[in-house]
Amino acid sequence: MRVCIFGTGYVGLVTGACLAEVGHDVACVDVDAAKIEGLNRGLVPIYEPGLGAMVKANHAAGRLRFSTDAAAGVAHGDIIFIAVGTPPDEDGSADLRYVLAVARTIGQHLRAPALIVNKSTVPVGTASKVEAAIADELAARGVDIAFDVVSNPEFLKEGAAVEDCMRPDRIVIGADRAAPVATLKRLYAPFNRNHDRIVSMDVKSAELTKYAANAMLATKISFMNEIANIAEHVGADVEQVRKGIGSDPRIGWHFIYPGAGYGGSCFPKDVRALASVARQHGVTPRLLQAVEDVNDAQKGHLFDLIVRHYGGATHLRDKTFAIWGLAFKPNTDDMREASSLRLLQQLLDAGARVRAFDPEALHEARRVLGTLDALTLCNSADATLEDADALVVVTEWKQFRSPVFAKLASMLGDAVIFDGRNLYEPDEVEAAGLAYFGIGRGRSVRAL
Ligand SMILES: NC(=O)c1ccc[n+]([C@@H]2O[C@H](COP(=O)([O-])OP(=O)(O)OC[C@H]3O[C@@H](n4cnc5c(N)ncnc54)[C@H](O)[C@@H]3O)[C@@H](O)[C@H]2O)c1
Repeated sequence: MRVCIFGTGYVGLVTGACLAEVGHDVACVDVDAAKIEGLNRGLVPIYEPGLGAMVKANHAAGRLRFSTDAAAGVAHGDIIFIAVGTPPDEDGSADLRYVLAVARTIGQHLRAPALIVNKSTVPVGTASKVEAAIADELAARGVDIAFDVVSNPEFLKEGAAVEDCMRPDRIVIGADRAAPVATLKRLYAPFNRNHDRIVSMDVKSAELTKYAANAMLATKISFMNEIANIAEHVGADVEQVRKGIGSDPRIGWHFIYPGAGYGGSCFPKDVRALASVARQHGVTPRLLQAVEDVNDAQKGHLFDLIVRHYGGATHLRDKTFAIWGLAFKPNTDDMREASSLRLLQQLLDAGARVRAFDPEALHEARRVLGTLDALTLCNSADATLEDADALVVVTEWKQFRSPVFAKLASMLGDAVIFDGRNLYEPDEVEAAGLAYFGIGRGRSVRAL
């Protein structure tokens, strides 16, 4: 099938590559000329496992094309996806300017009936706005062309985006007519072989489903971080508590890891946007507000542990901290709203020096942070330890899981680890002669 995708970010590029991989004919359009030029030269702008090879193979096979030419893209697509960003506006609501700009572009260039599929995460009611924007442009041109607008929210996870797209848990389609659902079923048939993953519903429910999913996951994380903070104060170990509750199938093992707070391009903005939608409709989002407040406080928790250990922020002046992990989670180079950013700022403000490493996000860190005298970006985890006083683990990359603690003890001037993801067993770390601070790991119980 002939598909056009507006936006070649995490969602658009992965969707385009996966649709091309199963044989569809895909034209990707972006306003970022440098990104398009790079993609046409085989440069994939983001790190996602498996994506680079898939993009290159399908581009070489002619099933995946990249262009800034919106008119050609619209002419190509019988199905036109909108997969552009929906960043937060100043009040937390979703900024729809990019989505509506694409809608107007489609209206300006549409020559034949098409199905418009909104994949961006958008507030309830956006499909109607997209429909109106396209209709306005068609009316301005004095033409009458049939089109449908449906909602098809994306559930892929950064770090496993290709895998999620090739083997989705579910494919949510929000449509108010049966015909577009049938078209999308045909498009997605290759991803839908061993059992039916399609969940079709009305447009508004589909739009709300995406926010509900992310808000639920964010809620689980904030809940567990709150339990961790209680555990720390009462002298319990949240890792034991986690094992005790995760075994209950009603609770489950996923998303109950305490840590340094959630980040990324989705959870923070989607929780805020859903709260904003609620307020606009006269509903007070008490729980969503609490989820965000807990997360905001949690992003400062590692620094609080550090300050407590050193007996005050003034004692951090001229200390050197090794930081492992800058991306907001493993297997991505995305640093949007990453917990590392808050910690870096706090340490640098306190006059400390930082030596940081991330397996994939160093180039992004250079872009986001620029050059700072007190910050050294290192090319390996080991290199961060040179002249460092303490180690802080912020992102749970696999390669950080089993360090040689004796070596850390000999290299770290103050022989202390702050483990923002509870990667290590406190007893093992302490046996090597290091002080250990994790999240929600009360010390009295462990001593028993
Ligand atoms: N990143 C994720 O993990 C994820 C997962 C599910 C849903 N989403 C949602 O999908 C949407 C896209 O997210 P993303 O992370 O892919 O964004 P992104 O910022 O990585 O990419 C957006 C792309 O859209 C392009 N763009 C902007 N305006 C355009 C226009 N008028 N025409 C063509 N291209 C244009 C930008 O240049 C950019 O390349 C958002 O609504 C997001 O909430 C993201």
